[in-house]
Amino acid sequence: MVGKTPRPPVTRILVLGSRGRVGAALVRQWLENHTVQALARPELDAADLPALERLLDRFEFDILVNATGLTNVDRCESARDEAVTVNTEAPSLMARVAAAKGARFIHFSTDYVFDGTQTRPYTENDPARPLGHYGATKLAGEAAALAASSRHLVLRVSWVFGPDKPSFVDMIIERALANDRVEAIADKTSSPTAAEDIAGWVEPFLTDSNELPGGLYHACNAGGCTWQAYGQYTLDCALKAGWPLRARTVEPIALADMNNFSAPRPPHTVMDTTKLSTVIERSPRPWQEALEEFLLWKFRNSLKVAGQ
Ligand SMILES: NC(=O)c1ccc[n+]([C@@H]2O[C@H](COP(=O)([O-])OP(=O)(O)OC[C@H]3O[C@@H](n4cnc5c(N)ncnc54)[C@H](OP(=O)(O)O)[C@@H]3O)[C@@H](O)[C@H]2O)c1
Repeated sequence: MVGKTPRPPVTRILVLGSRGRVGAALVRQWLENHTVQALARPELDAADLPALERLLDRFEFDILVNATGLTNVDRCESARDEAVTVNTEAPSLMARVAAAKGARFIHFSTDYVFDGTQTRPYTENDPARPLGHYGATKLAGEAAALAASSRHLVLRVSWVFGPDKPSFVDMIIERALANDRVEAIADKTSSPTAAEDIAGWVEPFLTDSNELPGGLYHACNAGGCTWQAYGQYTLDCALKAGWPLRARTVEPIALADMNNFSAPRPPHTVMDTTKLSTVIERSPRPWQEALEEFLLWKFRNSLKVAGQ
């Protein structure tokens, strides 16, 4: 073996919630360089804590990643106990199990921990004051995860899009293909974020050598926009890619006019990613660049599926 460069030790990662928008992207991207095991329903039920503990006991891992979550903010207002179990108690249990096994826990949270009254981007030091039950249960989950070990990591993400599960961008294209008029909220601001980019930002935290510090991080693409501007850029890119859209302009509507929203939404939740950029020595790219790349892929993929 003399003269052979030693390979870096392979990190064993267990991803929970591997069929979600974020979870699926993590698994696909990390499989290239790591040993990744993935669990999703029905094998995994994050709402059944004793079963979850038994399941985790069966696995050996260096990193445990939680991409599960009760993410429907309106449903969290009615399924209140389930939201507490999945968004707070389950991550708390996962964090404790990981710490007991000497493993690092990586957990995802949300911009909905903020009340959205601040006009400058939120930093990790700004006080979190959730408006609804989703944000409250996620905030309690963050605290429990971080309390279990200083090596554990919580990443707050926002407005995630990606190839594994439809999001706002897929919905607005569907609507613009079928209708002459589409609309989106013009007085709510956040940062669209590519699921694939999230996987790339977390990757430096997976290696053992020179371990990067745990704690709370904001992780979103650079820049902010309203839902209307997000939709308009989506349609502009979709037209450029070649989609035969009927609607080309996204008309403005107000958050207050959304009578079907049962949960309150924070109006302005752009997040500052300076802390993450400093630690990983890389700045998130602008959301527009990530979105255009995704839409080009989506268009080419739709042609392949259609056999063209
Ligand atoms: N998407 C966003 O814009 C956004 C914004 C801010 C924060 N986040 C955070 O990012 C993380 C990942 O979310 P995502 O965007 O990937 O959402 P997602 O696509 O809804 O993924 C969540 C996953 O959790 C699973 N899950 C829910 N309850 C479960 C249970 N009891 N047992 C097992 N699995 C369960 C879901 O499975 P089913 O599909 O079978 O229900 C789904 O696959 C979450 O922590 C979320 O709070 C997301």
